[in-house]
Amino acid sequence: MNVIVIGAGLAGLTAAICAAEGGAHVTIVAPQYSERAQSVMAMGGINAALDTKGEADSVEEHFKDTMRSGCYINDEAAVRRLADDAPALVEWLAGSCGVNFTRTESGQIDLRYFGGQKKARTAFAGARTGKQLMTGLIATCRRYESDGSIERLTGNSLLSLIVTDERKCAGVVLCNNVTDEITSIQADAVVLCTGGANGIYGKTTGSVMNDGSATGLALEAGAGLANLEMIQYHPTTVDFGDKRLLITEAARGEGGRLYTMRNGERWYFMEEWYPERGALMPRDVVSRSIYKVCNMMGLGIDGKNQVFLDITMMSDEIIRTRLDEVLDTCTSYINIDPHSEPIPVYPGIHYFMGGISTDMRHRTGIESLYAAGECSCQYHGANRLGGNSTLGAVHGGMMAARTILEEVSEGMSQSAADKALADAAARRAQWNARTDKDLCSVSRAEVLKKTASVMNSAMGIYRDGVRLNAALAELVEIEDKLDGLSLNTSYSDRQRLGAMLLLARASVMSALARKESRGAHQRVDFPETDDSRYRRSTIVTSDGGRNLRVDI
Ligand code: FUM
Repeated sequence: MNVIVIGAGLAGLTAAICAAEGGAHVTIVAPQYSERAQSVMAMGGINAALDTKGEADSVEEHFKDTMRSGCYINDEAAVRRLADDAPALVEWLAGSCGVNFTRTESGQIDLRYFGGQKKARTAFAGARTGKQLMTGLIATCRRYESDGSIERLTGNSLLSLIVTDERKCAGVVLCNNVTDEITSIQADAVVLCTGGANGIYGKTTGSVMNDGSATGLALEAGAGLANLEMIQYHPTTVDFGDKRLLITEAARGEGGRLYTMRNGERWYFMEEWYPERGALMPRDVVSRSIYKVCNMMGLGIDGKNQVFLDITMMSDEIIRTRLDEVLDTCTSYINIDPHSEPIPVYPGIHYFMGGISTDMRHRTGIESLYAAGECSCQYHGANRLGGNSTLGAVHGGMMAARTILEEVSEGMSQSAADKALADAAARRAQWNARTDKDLCSVSRAEVLKKTASVMNSAMGIYRDGVRLNAALAELVEIEDKLDGLSLNTSYSDRQRLGAMLLLARASVMSALARKESRGAHQRVDFPETDDSRYRRSTIVTSDGGRNLRVDI
């Protein structure tokens, strides 16, 4: 059986390993090697009710915390399975894949506190958990690469999904990012593990390689997208050029405190407003609190949009062994020694809870097409718990592979792939034949910049109908210009930009359709939570072209 996995991060590698283990031949397609996937940037950890701290933690508590934090629009059955499987999954990572988790003195996997959870439940490897998880999975993947059951097509991006008239995914059309050569590959199943929609927002804690285009292409191909309005602002990020640097929640999990100055004194606002959990409230609550301090109360440090995260009370040993990446980020990029100075932080876009709608077996609405990791939507509802993204990615990859092995039969014919390649080649030839007179001379960079500016202003921590409607109109205007992109724009860049714009518009339409406030989606014009109408997911579908429809 031929399985194509698009994406080489946590979800993609896990899907590939599990499918190969079950006897499939797997091709991993990605623009970069796994070592450059966004997953290596994950810091804080991976959740599992291992209870190695003796706090009577349980799978049930993990399930409940995830649902509560997601404001009950997560897929309940999927979350139950996620929490149930998590302990065995972390043991698999530690045992079979050799992931080097931080251990207690007695040799058990150590656990730390994370936001929105009362129990220490987050397994970690210093503050470099993503790197350690990826190192273990890359090594495991190599075993299958060496016997040929996994192959890699690095340096390629998805140009389109091949979907037959029977709404079955038959493979993919790819583009080589260096040569612009187009190829098609027939497959019995395709798994999308392409990450979040950073590209349409520009400045996030994530990787710009995760541009959202694959999600847009899935929408175009007929898959539904769920809860696109749910965007997680991580409370503690640092402004740094065209990026936001993450200061891991682990800093607060290990005892770091948030404060601003009021009347010449330190004011620990989270501890005053939320005495039970303080700075370890769920992320949406902490982000809104920082926003309130800075933007509504005018109490940002030095009059700027920033408060202080203080870890100066921690010993050098704790900082070096458990918050190593925080130390690196502070000393290498922002010239702060966190042993003695507080870190200026403000919320930044970090994670996309919404994405390709899947059931708990990670099937999409298109037969033989699966999705896992941040590009997919099922576990996180309106607000994800820290430590559940790495878990969701590994779990999703594993579930998708198992489902494929159980239900997909071999024998997809080559003809659909041949036809798709011929169509793509004809469209590219047409694109390359454009002349000066076709141009309105807008560049790809300008389109991306304008899109990011529209999205950031409309899809902030607080939204309203007026700004969202204005954004919708601006996005349509940008889309209308795409066929006039400057002559040096490759056909594949045009295709990807089109998909990104479609995703951007679908996100704004979802935010408009949810006329309530819930978790990460706060409408100033609809400040209440309305369970009777909106305790469910938004779903966007396309008619195969630019027409979109939102259901809720
Ligand atoms: O703060 C963090 O380390 C982020 C973790 C996560 O998003 O799961």
